[in-house]
Amino acid sequence: MSKIIAIASDHAGPDYKKRLIEYLTAKGYTCLNMGTDTEDSVDYPIYAHKVCEKILSGEAEFGILICGTGIGMSIAANKHAGIRAGLCADPESAALTRQHNNANVLCMGARTLSFEKVVEITDAFLGAEFLGGRHQRRVDMLENL
Ligand code: RB5
Repeated sequence: MSKIIAIASDHAGPDYKKRLIEYLTAKGYTCLNMGTDTEDSVDYPIYAHKVCEKILSGEAEFGILICGTGIGMSIAANKHAGIRAGLCADPESAALTRQHNNANVLCMGARTLSFEKVVEITDAFLGAEFLGGRHQRRVDMLENL
């Protein structure tokens, strides 16, 4: 298992991002750190785009985006055709966004979640599989909106 994950945050999340990269690397994932790495103010759409590019080019299978709430990152990521970003605040939603939405990006809030919760949510997301079937039809519809 060597899934490649592109991961980025804005200035609200570099500490969570660093710790999550350490956690995922220890579990055997390869993480592409797309920044930012300091708390100097940056613009989240730039970092969402960097991660989406890695997925759309095939260099990464999944993306993780962290900002203050996760909301801005999810809005930015979902502007990209082929990206399905789920904003999650609990592990159940994280598993379901893989199973039902075939989400390829997980968005979380560094200012709204504990790091322990971020880890739980990430584990649930990466541990779930897309169920296909009727969900595939709906995912196909998303691409045509
Ligand atoms: C940055 O202050 C904040 O707006 C950003 O991290 C995010 O929460 C936006 O949705």
